[in-house]
Amino acid sequence: MQFQEEQDYNKRFDMGLWVRLARYAKPFYKHLAIISIAMLACAGGDVIFPLLTREAIDTFVANGETSGLGMFILKYMTVLLLQVGCIFTFCKLSGHVEVGMCHRIREIGFKRLQELPFSFYDKTPVGYMIARMTSDAQRLGDTIGWGLIDLLWSAGYIVMVMIIMLTLNVQMSLMVMLVMPIIAVVAVYFQKRILKSYREVRKTNSKITGAFNEGIMGAKTTKTLVREEANYGEFTELTTSMKKSSIRAAVLSALFMPIVSSLGSLAAAYALWKGGYDVFSGALSFGTLTVFMNYTTQIFEPISSIARIFADLQSSQAAAERVITMIETEPEISDSPEVIEVFGDSFHPKKENWPGIKGDIVFDNVSFQYSGGEKVLKNFDLHIEAGQTIALVGETGSGKSTIVNLICRFYEPTEGRILIDGVNYKERSQLWLQSHLGYVLQQPHLFSGTIRENIRYGRLDATDEEVEQAARMVDAEEFILKFEKGYDTDVGEGGNRLSIGQKQLISFARALIADPAIFVLDEATSSVDTETEQKIQQAIQTALSGRTSFIIAHRLSTIRNADRILVIQHGEVTEQGTHKELIRKRGYYYNLYANQFKEERENALLGRKSI
Ligand SMILES: Nc1ncnc2c1ncn2[C@@H]1O[C@H](COP(=O)(O)OP(=O)(O)OP(=O)(O)O)[C@@H](O)[C@H]1O
Ligand SMILES: [Mg+2]
Repeated sequence: MQFQEEQDYNKRFDMGLWVRLARYAKPFYKHLAIISIAMLACAGGDVIFPLLTREAIDTFVANGETSGLGMFILKYMTVLLLQVGCIFTFCKLSGHVEVGMCHRIREIGFKRLQELPFSFYDKTPVGYMIARMTSDAQRLGDTIGWGLIDLLWSAGYIVMVMIIMLTLNVQMSLMVMLVMPIIAVVAVYFQKRILKSYREVRKTNSKITGAFNEGIMGAKTTKTLVREEANYGEFTELTTSMKKSSIRAAVLSALFMPIVSSLGSLAAAYALWKGGYDVFSGALSFGTLTVFMNYTTQIFEPISSIARIFADLQSSQAAAERVITMIETEPEISDSPEVIEVFGDSFHPKKENWPGIKGDIVFDNVSFQYSGGEKVLKNFDLHIEAGQTIALVGETGSGKSTIVNLICRFYEPTEGRILIDGVNYKERSQLWLQSHLGYVLQQPHLFSGTIRENIRYGRLDATDEEVEQAARMVDAEEFILKFEKGYDTDVGEGGNRLSIGQKQLISFARALIADPAIFVLDEATSSVDTETEQKIQQAIQTALSGRTSFIIAHRLSTIRNADRILVIQHGEVTEQGTHKELIRKRGYYYNLYANQFKEERENALLGRKSI
């Protein structure tokens, strides 16, 4: 699978893809059927009007007759009203299909994005996903709601007009039909080029959006690197190229309509010239000539419409392919049908069948690698008893986060098994495990909203009192109450109005409020000051007792009281034991500890804040 922004797309019409997409339009089949009927009726109306004009001319105008005029007006009005009704029906229903289809794709897409595992997010850029869910979904709604309908109207109109012309006068209709292929060729030529330049515009536009995104997200870094001028230069280049391709598209569109309509008028003039003689000679009625004139001036519209829709369908096909690929991505981690049968899926859990969880964890000969990466863990064995506090230390990149991510089943072992309470966790549902899990991520993320709402995300039915209690447990209340609005302070998008340390404390409280059986704290204390850290240390002891917990901390003082400390090097446990045992051993941990202790002492003496 390749994810790229707006790439050139030159594939031929792919029926299979449209059939796949049509499956998603299933709830709208009834609407589409009614729209098709209304559309054909509408085209019928457009074809009938010139015939009515003919009747009026030949019976009333030419003969100066007035009898039967009332009947004629009634007929005319009926067709008119029917057409108005049809237009209203298809406009209403097409709008409904457009919005409904777009809504459905977004809903299915969003649901799928929720189900996809970490590995999908590792390799898919955020901008790519957003573009699929916004502009592509919109485009497909538009194509299905309006494009196909237009196609039907145009095709219906052309076929009906041809039939009627042939029944009226074969010779003249053949002449008019000669012009049609010329119009079609010109229309296809122009539409292809117009579309290409619009594609160019869109491509540049998405680059501009990307540049905006980078410029805004990286504004602070830009300033620190003094890159303002260079960035501005790059941006100007993009906007200039956008201007050029937009103008090209506009010129082409401006040329297209007059050329095609002139062709139509030429055909009409030809018909007038030839037909004029026949009218004089009496071979053709004046009314019939008017019908031909009408049809010839109007038929260029459906022809160019068909050319436009086909050109348009090709680019919608690109959107359809990208959207379908994304919403049909099979999650690499999924529950087997048997598991779903018993325990339910993420959206319909069968909690009544869920077993309790103690938190005994076994790595049984586990090997693991990220997709496309090297092996991070090789034949890894580990047994963690329920209720223990385990600390993981080791250099950066040694595999600490990987180990806990495997426990949480955010990734699954490439080989071997992980047992929870003696059962391979693949035999239970993901939701079962993750509902009993509290995880403070290495990069904590908060959602827009207040502090209170963010803590409550951990357990939606928590009372205000419970939210505050959780905050107190991790000693976050002190800083929260310093804000003017306290718990009701807005944290900003992604929590960026708070410091990293504050975000970590809040996500700590958020994880604890769910009372998880397994708890993971990934370097949560690296960004808080020494004083807060000591408080957290105490909080950890009380909060984590009775849970199986994993603490990854760079500051070793945090983990001194852990039941077991594991030193991880290159994906292997090289030392393990309690703090005392490891100090006595005088190995890697001892050196690490001694260095850090020395540093902290120096810092304390110099009155500096420790790192
Ligand atoms: N999402 C990923 N995709 C590919 N490779 C990854 C991914 N995450 C980590 N790795 C690789 O796996 C190895 C172990 O990474 P891991 O994140 O487990 O280290 P860590 O011990 O948590 O490090 P740190 O202390 O810096 O957090 C590293 O070599 C890293 O490059
Ligand atoms: Mg890590």
